[in-house]
Amino acid sequence: MPRIGTIRPTHPADIEISDLGKRYGRTDTGTLAMAGVTLSIPAGEFVCVVGASGCGKSTLLRILAGFEPGTAGTVTVAGEPVAGPDPERGVVFQDYGLFPWLSVRENIAYGPKQARLTRDVVRERTDRFLTAVGLTRFASKYPHELSGGMQQRVAIARVLANDPAVMLMDEPFGALDALTRSSLQAELSSIHRETGTTVLFVTHSIEEAVFLADRVVVMAGGASHGVPGHVREIVPITLGADRDVTSPEFNELKRHISALVHEGVAAA
Ligand SMILES: Nc1ncnc2c1ncn2[C@@H]1O[C@H](COP(=O)(O)OP(=O)(O)OP(=O)(O)O)[C@@H](O)[C@H]1O
Ligand SMILES: [Mg+2]
Repeated sequence: MPRIGTIRPTHPADIEISDLGKRYGRTDTGTLAMAGVTLSIPAGEFVCVVGASGCGKSTLLRILAGFEPGTAGTVTVAGEPVAGPDPERGVVFQDYGLFPWLSVRENIAYGPKQARLTRDVVRERTDRFLTAVGLTRFASKYPHELSGGMQQRVAIARVLANDPAVMLMDEPFGALDALTRSSLQAELSSIHRETGTTVLFVTHSIEEAVFLADRVVVMAGGASHGVPGHVREIVPITLGADRDVTSPEFNELKRHISALVHEGVAAA
């Protein structure tokens, strides 16, 4: 993984989520998908969110992204209430969301161009992140000419090129094969160490969460369980930078989180 130099987000941001709730549909008859979610994420932290299907992980991320509002509580990023989408909050979802009519280079350059940066700065940023995700040789290709893993790299580079203060990722590696997935995990971890961006990352893989996170937020409940989605426990990951997925400490954390996720399903 090539080093990407001294890239720091302009304003690494903290996230404050306070008593957040979300009701879909009408106030009287709608579904309370999530309630009472409180979470404080310091700037630069890598937080993974796990939990059974329907517990509100994507809902939480969409609210943070500004794609939809919460119906109770507050969310602030760098002290500002979230009022809509913002390039400062980069979003990577499972389906990549690339522009099919733009080349890899143009996809990555899109955000910096929109921000009206000078041509030189746009080129420099694009080159830097093409290198960071190992796609320099594919710069002039189009998304359909790339594998899923490569498209996901472009999606990550495209978000990073905006120099986001926060990255919101919803199962970004869910559709990838195991080998590509573990190499992108290592890449993301190293990019995170270099950029210092705050990351909120949703995954179904507990191993992925323990590998990547400073803290793992375990959610439980969800409309189909008759209890609104909520935070069940927050597990600090006290492993160093180079994590050995075969170590006893790693497996103990995995076992603990897995038990919490399954208890959550049984109790909800
Ligand atoms: N647009 C919507 N309209 C109505 N209900 C919704 C909507 N989006 C989500 N829900 C409901 O809110 C709850 C939480 O959904 P959400 O997608 O956040 O779960 P999730 O934890 O991301 O699940 P998964 O792991 O399957 O992706 C679910 O019960 C779901 O049915
Ligand atoms: Mg989801």
